[in-house]
Amino acid sequence: MSRLTVKNAAEIAKMRAAGLIVRDALELLGRSAKAGVSTLELDAIAAEFLGSRGAKASFLGYNGYPASICASVNSQVVHGIPDGYKLREGDILSVDIGALKDGYHGDAARTFFIGRVADEARKLVEVTQECFFLGAAEAREGRHIADISRAVEAHARKHGYGVVRDLVGHGIGRDMHEPPEVPNFTDARIGRGLRLTKGMTLAIEPMINMGGWQVRQEANGWTVVTADGSLSAHYENTVAITDGEAEILTL
Ligand code: MF3
Ligand code: CO
Repeated sequence: MSRLTVKNAAEIAKMRAAGLIVRDALELLGRSAKAGVSTLELDAIAAEFLGSRGAKASFLGYNGYPASICASVNSQVVHGIPDGYKLREGDILSVDIGALKDGYHGDAARTFFIGRVADEARKLVEVTQECFFLGAAEAREGRHIADISRAVEAHARKHGYGVVRDLVGHGIGRDMHEPPEVPNFTDARIGRGLRLTKGMTLAIEPMINMGGWQVRQEANGWTVVTADGSLSAHYENTVAITDGEAEILTL
């Protein structure tokens, strides 16, 4: 198990480099995700791109995960395994990718629109992104993890959406998953969580359902889907705590 780590300036610089690769990969994947393209094709594009930048896919082989990206369509929340499914007009596609470069990971996710998407799906995706930015605004020295969680949760709930509780954001650095956990919800048992200090690096990643918060895992042992079949969106960035606003390393 890895421990909580606080990064110095040289380490943050390496995380910045990993983060930019992730950002660029997502930009490429967003342009490539069109009707008729399979999620397996997107995985190949991602793998090729990471290699061209001298990076490794953080996810490939992680607990036996078989691909470089997670590609989660519509009611799939996260950890969709790329396969022969060809994207269709009106789908929403959450792509999650991690890059390991020079010993440090970057991790981010976006939900893309495939062609013309229903207004209510578009709204879900926009609100999920807003949840991230409201959470990130709380990611400041002296605040606590629960300040991030509360901001994310409040915004999603205001729109009547379900906030996924079974998966959480996380610290990140030399390991893709480091302490602390970064939940998108608050509860008394968790409390206010860790106090943030400069040099901590976190993956903040709201996973928001149009319906209820409940999810289940598919038989493949990975893919998480909404229990009620409603749409789900994911938006994630790796951020560094500074003495001012958080630096978003994957934008
Ligand atoms: N980005 C995901 C996370 O933040 C990780 C993908 S799971 C993997 O936890 F197993 F595919 F790597
Ligand atoms: Co993550």
